[in-house]
Amino acid sequence: MATERTFSILKPDATKRNLTGAVNAVIEKAGLRIVGQRRIQMSKAQAEKFYEVHAARPFFGELVEFMISGPVVVQVLEGENAIAKYREVMGATNPAQADEGTIRKTFSESVGENTVHGSDSAENAKLEIAQFFQDSDIAG
Ligand code: CMP
Repeated sequence: MATERTFSILKPDATKRNLTGAVNAVIEKAGLRIVGQRRIQMSKAQAEKFYEVHAARPFFGELVEFMISGPVVVQVLEGENAIAKYREVMGATNPAQADEGTIRKTFSESVGENTVHGSDSAENAKLEIAQFFQDSDIAG
């Protein structure tokens, strides 16, 4: 297994409820290292670009509005098999279907407000990291 990097977002429901530390503790306990982290307010254009693959979905407007409803924490996580590992740690997109101990099972209230995002492939991880981080910020 190779050391990989993945992109993560702690969504507005996490920042609003002061859960960023609690979520980061789960991430770090799983062996993922937070090598980049920034708290930002996403613009509508940034959110629309980030989720452009979902533009045709009925929930797209709601998703964009939610992602700009408060600050988010964008992160780069590093570790063995980080992309798959983080998806495991997050749990299913719908918290009602997520396994015990996962971030979404523990903290999320709905499929829309599901606390975290993680990249679904190496290709998307690269693109998503590049949307929010300069190479020099995550060089170490
Ligand atoms: P995420 O992994 O960030 O990628 C796409 C997001 O769309 C997903 O998490 C959910 O938050 C959101 N999403 C998926 N299905 C629905 C839905 N039925 N209603 C609202 N949001 C959804």
